Amino acid sequence: MAVINKSVIASVLMLIGSSVTAQTVNHISVRSTDNKTKISKHIYGHFAEHLGRCIYGGFYVGESNKKVPHVNGIRKDVVEALKKLKVPNLRWPGGCFADTYHWKDGIGPKADRPKMVNVWWSGVTEDNSFGTHDFLDMCELIGADPYLAGNVGSGTVAEFTDWVQYVSFDGSSPMSSLRAKNGREKPWNVKLWGVGNEAWGCGGNMVPEYYANIYRQYATFMKGSKDMFRIASGANGDDYHWTEVLMRDIPHSILDGVALHHYAVIDWSKKGPSVEFSEEIYFKSMKAALRMEELVSRHSTIMDKYDPQKKVALVVDEWGGWYDVEPGTNPGFLYQQNTMRDAMIAGLTLNIFNNHADRVRIANLAQTINVLQSVILTDEEKMLLTPTFHVMEMYNVHQDATLLPITITTNDYVFKEEKLPAVSISASVDAANLTHVTLVNIDPVKSQNISLAFFGSVYKTATGRILTSGALQDHNTFKDPEKIKPATFNKVTVKNGEVTLTVPPFSVISLELK
Ligand code: AHR
Repeated sequence: MAVINKSVIASVLMLIGSSVTAQTVNHISVRSTDNKTKISKHIYGHFAEHLGRCIYGGFYVGESNKKVPHVNGIRKDVVEALKKLKVPNLRWPGGCFADTYHWKDGIGPKADRPKMVNVWWSGVTEDNSFGTHDFLDMCELIGADPYLAGNVGSGTVAEFTDWVQYVSFDGSSPMSSLRAKNGREKPWNVKLWGVGNEAWGCGGNMVPEYYANIYRQYATFMKGSKDMFRIASGANGDDYHWTEVLMRDIPHSILDGVALHHYAVIDWSKKGPSVEFSEEIYFKSMKAALRMEELVSRHSTIMDKYDPQKKVALVVDEWGGWYDVEPGTNPGFLYQQNTMRDAMIAGLTLNIFNNHADRVRIANLAQTINVLQSVILTDEEKMLLTPTFHVMEMYNVHQDATLLPITITTNDYVFKEEKLPAVSISASVDAANLTHVTLVNIDPVKSQNISLAFFGSVYKTATGRILTSGALQDHNTFKDPEKIKPATFNKVTVKNGEVTLTVPPFSVISLELK
């Protein structure tokens, strides 16, 4: 997506002595011809770690629970909600937890499973009652591809390769026999595999040259799964050297994806509250979220150098807003509320991923339930959908659709001395030839007038949905779970092929054009 900043245009016009003043309309042109880039549905992936109440109480309440309707301990309400999102893949069991996890402790009769300490997340006891079968069967219920992050930091090559064989091998082997003994004859055939997590940090504090060698060793022995997609543990934010070394030192024949983690955090030592935030904090959050554009672009440029045909995917397998935990909750459980600020982060980040779909082919929002920027919050038998859920649902029309390239001239959202692009957008055409456009206006005060010009297509009608609310800090609660939800948006005009609309402050809009 090409972004042209209006103040730059205004200065240029002043310099050349033009009497034209800066426009107030955001002009967006969409090219509808000759586009080949598919927006992989896997950009819309989620992440579930053994952290706080994501798995226990979130996805899983246990087989003996009498209060919450479940299938083999998996919450029915959660499964139904996630089906609506069309979750394409779910990453598990971590995160940092992945590099402490010994998968064999989580199979077989539950009463016999050993316990462990969850060293990264508050030192709670993990009883391993939710293990490989529970997760993979749950993915089948949701209709999501599993994405397993294997233990490299404290595991062994043999343990890792046994896991691959256990879940995927379709023949006679010690691991497939063990799987059958535990009640599953047919393999699940897991395709997506993470070779460790954050190897530069909680995954082992490695340097990239060392990790690249470790990756080569592990990837060599990962056999037994069809169409396996191996993902190297990637950079922390702007650590471009990390990506450079991985792309340079790992043979691309054994490398399908390189990961990247970036959280929208204003300051790691002072993250600020999830609800009671000021406009200054909001502005900083938007700035941190928009940084994804620069990160994805610069990591992609490095990848282009070693892989001009773009065979290796950039996998942003952790992203989202990260704030202080809710007052009174366990600091190690990372439970935070989810406001219209989070809807903005989700909308603009997904637009960035869509517009970089030539390289970004998998992404995972952190984390699905009760942890960080969740799409679902639960409290015993109660469940609510967050504003982020609604954005993910409004955007799922882009899954596996063809990207329509965009050039945008946007107004600025100005706060004190700083400014950010106010409008973000992406567009695609799906298999049924419907065009979808998703727009975000992050400005908390000003509406944005939008003019969309399409080159190569003429549309006659437009329908839309909007997610907005009265205050930036608004959020859904268990008392008022539907305060924020999408509504019909019909203030859109199609005339002589031009689509015009006004996006209210801090709103997300999705349009369908015919
Ligand atoms: O998502 C929470 C944590 O953030 C993950 O466990 C880790 O990978 C990252 O640092």
